[in-house]
Amino acid sequence: APSTPSTPPETLVTDKYAYAFDIDGVLIRGGKPIPEAIEAMKVLNGANQYGIKVPYIFVTNGGGKTEQERCVQLSQQLQIEVSPGQFICGHTPMREMAERYNTVLVVGGEGEKCRQVAEGYGFKDVVTPGDIIKDNQDTTPFRKLTEEEYRHSRARNFGETEIEAIFVFADSRDWASDQQIILDLLMSKNGRLGTRSETFEEGPPVFFSHNDVVWSASHDLTRIGMGALRVSLEAMFKAVTGKDLKTTAFGKPQIGTFQFATRLLQQWRKDTHSIDSPPDTVYFVGDTPESDIRGTNEFDNCAENNWYSILVRTGVFQEGTKPRFTPRATVDNVLEAVKHGMEREY
Ligand code: G3P
Ligand code: MG
Repeated sequence: APSTPSTPPETLVTDKYAYAFDIDGVLIRGGKPIPEAIEAMKVLNGANQYGIKVPYIFVTNGGGKTEQERCVQLSQQLQIEVSPGQFICGHTPMREMAERYNTVLVVGGEGEKCRQVAEGYGFKDVVTPGDIIKDNQDTTPFRKLTEEEYRHSRARNFGETEIEAIFVFADSRDWASDQQIILDLLMSKNGRLGTRSETFEEGPPVFFSHNDVVWSASHDLTRIGMGALRVSLEAMFKAVTGKDLKTTAFGKPQIGTFQFATRLLQQWRKDTHSIDSPPDTVYFVGDTPESDIRGTNEFDNCAENNWYSILVRTGVFQEGTKPRFTPRATVDNVLEAVKHGMEREY
């Protein structure tokens, strides 16, 4: 039975502090909630001995569907209402790049989902690997499009199309064919498929929505993620061309993501709780030292308020190893993390 009291009828909202949560390995694993996560959300919503509610947001490196869709899913998983106004995923900040490029290649995710996300962000002309394979099936000797993929893909003459940038929005479902197509573009003259540059220096820039080499899914051990694809692509480019490839990653631990989170939290506190001042402390709860703890600590050094990193033992970080970036606190799970922050405040 839950040990916490039920929500009093009129619960005060604190303006002093707030929480930001990582998702995979903290709240969810392999599509299922981590048991303590549901209780942790109840505590934040007033089921605590102090009789207060604490504002919170979610900052995940994951992605592959619209923010709206992801929030509907998260609401069901956590048994609370989650709004896009309190949610950032890996590709959310890529929205700000939509004006800069005309034709872009979007890689990763299920079916047409990431094309829809990119178009929703305002990208004007979104190409997928499927479009390229439909135009020329010799592109990928070991991948044939399924009937459904073929139906949705939009063929055109890619020899006459200049692809200006490459965005990896979500995990690739077929590394070999996606990497072949990215490599073709990187080695092309100005992003025109079928051409080869003499210098290999005129290909489009590549952006990844995050850089997590591993992440916490349903398997007991960590699984390779988008950061692994990045490492692999850079090594392959070097092996094939002899040149170094520089790519860019968004997401945590980038400071820009934490600045984005700060603006989101400010707006969220204002819109839903009429709080106008910034919180003194933001407790960030994460499972990945390289993304969550590193980012929070580095941001704490430059932000005006305190960002306090809490590492949990339910995801990437495993007991018995020393985290590469030292959290302010390490606790067993997200419920303990919420309680730790609250106890510090009173
Ligand atoms: O692919 C998602 C994963 O790398 C991390 O998600 O929620 O732990 O930031 P999250
Ligand atoms: Mg995580």
